[in-house]
Amino acid sequence: MKFFVDTADIDAIAELNDTGMVDGVTTNPSLILKSGRDILEVTREICALIDGPVSAEVVATEYEDMVQEGRKLAKIADNIAIKVPLTWAGLKTCKVLTDAGHMVNVTLCFSANQALLAAKAGATFISPFVGRLDDVNLDGMELINDIRTIYDNYAFDTEILVASVRSVNHVTESALIGADVVTAPPAVLKKLADHPLTDKGLAAFMADWAKTGQNIL
Ligand code: G3P
Repeated sequence: MKFFVDTADIDAIAELNDTGMVDGVTTNPSLILKSGRDILEVTREICALIDGPVSAEVVATEYEDMVQEGRKLAKIADNIAIKVPLTWAGLKTCKVLTDAGHMVNVTLCFSANQALLAAKAGATFISPFVGRLDDVNLDGMELINDIRTIYDNYAFDTEILVASVRSVNHVTESALIGADVVTAPPAVLKKLADHPLTDKGLAAFMADWAKTGQNIL
């Protein structure tokens, strides 16, 4: 399973990228706002840092404008994935941009039928928002399971990119279901390595090692 970082914070991306675990980056208008940066400038910097897909989202809601914005974003770098919302205008934009050879990430997906439409429109990625479904007492991971089944039934090669990830459990469940990608905030990705028994075990080893009086280097 691939790990994307869900942020436009260049320092946080660089720090995680040093671990070798970052396969891509996702941004959205809210994350651009949070970064306080110019969208074109920060996206260019992220693309230069990361080899994998970097999602940059259009903000137009009409088809023609969406296509124009998508083409402009795609010019930033070869690894741009143009992000479009799951509306009819977004699906039409997805079709035209994927036909032109661009990667497209269809975002704000909340149902299996929406995911089916995105795959039929040729999306490179579908982004179901699991946390926001959980927020309204629905089951985000159940949607991931349903999309996995549907995509496998018809051998769609659209990748399931689990988004709105709020916890490490979302990551585990995504991997168990066989999602292709999880995009998570830096804090969630960092927590993946945590275990209290690892900390406890390491402290015990260090204490015993000190008593040996030895050095490796
Ligand atoms: O990947 C989508 C994400 O940025 C939305 O997350 O936590 O605002 O639902 P959240």
